[in-house]
Amino acid sequence: MNSQSDVRIYPNKTALEDAVAKHFLLASNQAVQHRGRALIALSGGSTPLGLFQLLGSEAYRSSVPWQQIHFFWVDERCVPPQDEESNYGQFKRKVLDPLQIPRQQVHPMNGTLPAEEAAQKYEKLLSTFTDEDQTLPRFDWVLLGMGTDGHTASLFPGVHHPAEEQKAVIAVTAEYENRPAGRVTLTPLILNQARQIVFMVHGERKAQTLREVLQGERDPLRLPAQRIRPLDGRLVWMLDEAAASQL
Ligand code: 6PG
Repeated sequence: MNSQSDVRIYPNKTALEDAVAKHFLLASNQAVQHRGRALIALSGGSTPLGLFQLLGSEAYRSSVPWQQIHFFWVDERCVPPQDEESNYGQFKRKVLDPLQIPRQQVHPMNGTLPAEEAAQKYEKLLSTFTDEDQTLPRFDWVLLGMGTDGHTASLFPGVHHPAEEQKAVIAVTAEYENRPAGRVTLTPLILNQARQIVFMVHGERKAQTLREVLQGERDPLRLPAQRIRPLDGRLVWMLDEAAASQL
């Protein structure tokens, strides 16, 4: 295993969700303390649904600085927010609506536009959140998931988009587990600027890929999760025992 990897293993999914929620709580409070706001970027998929449920519950209502957080998305499927497959829609129903988070703090990718157009718009939006001397915003906390094929965000194996080198947001097409193929995704260019990145992974079906990503040869084209290497930030892998069973 890479000597710099910070890998934390929890006995089950509930303990994992609890730990990730606490990590988010700490990171958002620290960001608000230091910079007056927290820029948070979220993933979709099934992994974080329990976490979102927890964050939207009474337990986190008063301890998270909800009024100072700006929410962004790591990727989005090209579907409207009401669709079950919408990453924004999932978080909206579990957290934003119950906690009545003001719209001005919520920055979804537009799943109803053609993907190219949505990507361009998002790139423009992100440029309004940069610090003075930066060209891209630095997220305070990024939540990433990993697919069984090693993809993360909507960066899929075997595909290198030349635009990834210059753009923070790109449109992609990918077939994965019958999910919508049209997608918009952030690129490593912006993700790797983040102050903190958490990979949340659970379940035995990801164990083998996880071992390859963390302990195998470097092959970022085949294992896009390996493209995540913060330049000046921290990367933490938070896993349940099943996902970690082959490490
Ligand atoms: C998406 C995601 C994606 C996700 C992985 C893992 O929109 O699909 O943001 O990168 O994190 O596909 O998905 P599961 O959590 O469902 O395994």
